[in-house]
Amino acid sequence: MRFQGRVVVVTGGASGQGEATCRLFAAEGAQVVVADWNADGAARVARDIGGAPFAVDVAKESEVAAMIDFACTRFGRLDVLFNNAGVGHSATGQFRMASIVDTPEDAWDSIIAINLKGQAMGCKHAIPRMVAGGGGAIINNASIMAIAGVPGADAYTAAKGGVVALTRVLAVDWGAKGVRVNCICPGTIATPMVGNLIEDPEARQRLGESTPMKRIGDSDEIARVAVFLASSDASYINGAIIPVDGGWSAL
Ligand SMILES: NC(=O)c1ccc[n+]([C@@H]2O[C@H](COP(=O)([O-])OP(=O)(O)OC[C@H]3O[C@@H](n4cnc5c(N)ncnc54)[C@H](O)[C@@H]3O)[C@@H](O)[C@H]2O)c1
Repeated sequence: MRFQGRVVVVTGGASGQGEATCRLFAAEGAQVVVADWNADGAARVARDIGGAPFAVDVAKESEVAAMIDFACTRFGRLDVLFNNAGVGHSATGQFRMASIVDTPEDAWDSIIAINLKGQAMGCKHAIPRMVAGGGGAIINNASIMAIAGVPGADAYTAAKGGVVALTRVLAVDWGAKGVRVNCICPGTIATPMVGNLIEDPEARQRLGESTPMKRIGDSDEIARVAVFLASSDASYINGAIIPVDGGWSAL
């Protein structure tokens, strides 16, 4: 129960890694705001864990600001933000490769707006509240694609690279004020985002075989790292970019 009395906001909390992280924070005693543009999904997870749902499109600053306000008004403080909402493709949400020459401007804009600006706006509005409350922890969810090139995922990779750079500068800017900012870079994790890539068992196996651990990851393996980074066990970890990828980035 490391998070008794603590208030946590998780974006993309209705599914996959975000949902698993909401559940783990709640199990550790936190008050959790389950934020997602899938309002029904957020309500389902919030009901299960006794948290508070919040409908938000993270690409819109006004909605992100309202999300942070909601957490502080409802629970009186803000300790943790897991900036996790993201899409693999602008239209479907699921991961789809598209090289720069095949990416229309509106798709580029929307992937950058959700996957990079959304996290930046979360930080912008959370940090003043955390500083006022004596400190806090932000965990940004990037991707191993931010640290090693994977052919043909250009807008997604650029956005996640921005998340890594953003993490570093915010850690440097705000560490002295008690706000730690860290970043997780997941490898392939079995969630709806990659459902189209893993529904065929052979394709799933092939993806797993590309990692030293010969399997893809699951959402709980990301949730446990997010909760650790938010906890006092990680009190001297700031600005870290942590691959959670079964060793893929070590190859
Ligand atoms: N699954 C993987 O293999 C993988 C690998 C590396 C990084 N990631 C990253 O992990 C994060 C979580 O993804 P996941 O794998 O759990 O996928 P997921 O599709 O299961 O969950 C993503 C959630 O984000 C929400 N969302 C999307 N756009 C939103 C918006 N504009 N505003 C609010 N909510 C929005 C979706 O509704 C969904 O609930 C993403 O940032 C993703 O880029 C995933």
